[in-house]
Amino acid sequence: MKKLLLHLDTDSIPSAFDQAVAYDSDVDNIIPYGSITRDNVTPHVHGMIFTRGGKNLKNSAIFIGGSNVPASELVGDAVKKAFFGPVRVSVMLDPNGSNTTAAAIARKVITNYDVTDKKVVIIGSGPVGQRTALFLLKEGAKKVIITSRDITRSTKITTQMKQAYDVEVTPGEARSDEAVINLLKDAHVGIGCGPAGVCVIPKLAWAASETLEVIADVNAVPPHGVEELEVMDDGIKRQGIRFYGAIAIGNFKMKVHRAAIASLYERNDLFLDETTIYGIACKIDSQ
Ligand SMILES: NC(=O)c1ccc[n+]([C@@H]2O[C@H](COP(=O)([O-])OP(=O)(O)OC[C@H]3O[C@@H](n4cnc5c(N)ncnc54)[C@H](OP(=O)(O)O)[C@@H]3O)[C@@H](O)[C@H]2O)c1
Repeated sequence: MKKLLLHLDTDSIPSAFDQAVAYDSDVDNIIPYGSITRDNVTPHVHGMIFTRGGKNLKNSAIFIGGSNVPASELVGDAVKKAFFGPVRVSVMLDPNGSNTTAAAIARKVITNYDVTDKKVVIIGSGPVGQRTALFLLKEGAKKVIITSRDITRSTKITTQMKQAYDVEVTPGEARSDEAVINLLKDAHVGIGCGPAGVCVIPKLAWAASETLEVIADVNAVPPHGVEELEVMDDGIKRQGIRFYGAIAIGNFKMKVHRAAIASLYERNDLFLDETTIYGIACKIDSQ
């Protein structure tokens, strides 16, 4: 029986990237829909759950993506509501690659490095930065700061994270190079999670810190998020600091993404979100 993937995207055009990864994960056929909302998703879910019964249900699965992460999460909630009893299929939620990318960042940071009791500063508090904070706290970091250029925005986000995950993430403001220097001066780990094509950690900030041990960046578009970091850096040391670039992180992210898609077809009742996707990343790392 063919492995079918219902690809639900909150953007008007379903992501080519996510479809390419699905085919590379041995999906036979993708059924893509764009402009998906929590209000129009139910008939599509019914199309998947009513066509194959019993043991065959595990050959159908759903992927939820889109650049608007909160909207995609609402679609995820609506998909769950459309299921009933055992009549369900496995689902992966990875809007804008946020779960798989953050899982890859966290696993790279802790490669041969114990983050227990360390201070982590993440420049950027978008979906990738938020999830990276969550995973590194889970790994034992003592303090994790996520920043915005306006402290009111990062404070709002950390308050939401407290409500959603019961974690203490510290809000920070990174409005200028001086602010980044101050944030990094006693940090052990610095992570660039800013927008593509913007340098958020200048060399003068990382070079001035006497405590930094690891730096990572996920912005693959020049100029990169961390000055003098190379996208292929995979633990290379500069001035005693280990560097991880966007391609090294992206390569691991691809492994996590493919493994997550493949696992959807092992059973019909998985819901892969940030927590479960991080579990898949840990499993890959331990092999
Ligand atoms: N390699 C991969 O596979 C992969 C996959 C997904 C994402 N990514 C990359 O991961 C990064 C983060 O993604 P995301 O979805 O979390 O991004 P996002 O939602 O756009 O968040 C970017 C963050 O950077 C801050 N920011 C924006 N402009 C800034 C500036 N000029 N200086 C400093 N901070 C600024 C924003 O906060 P304020 O506006 O509040 O300041 C926001 O917190 C992006 O570079 C993206 O390309 C990589």
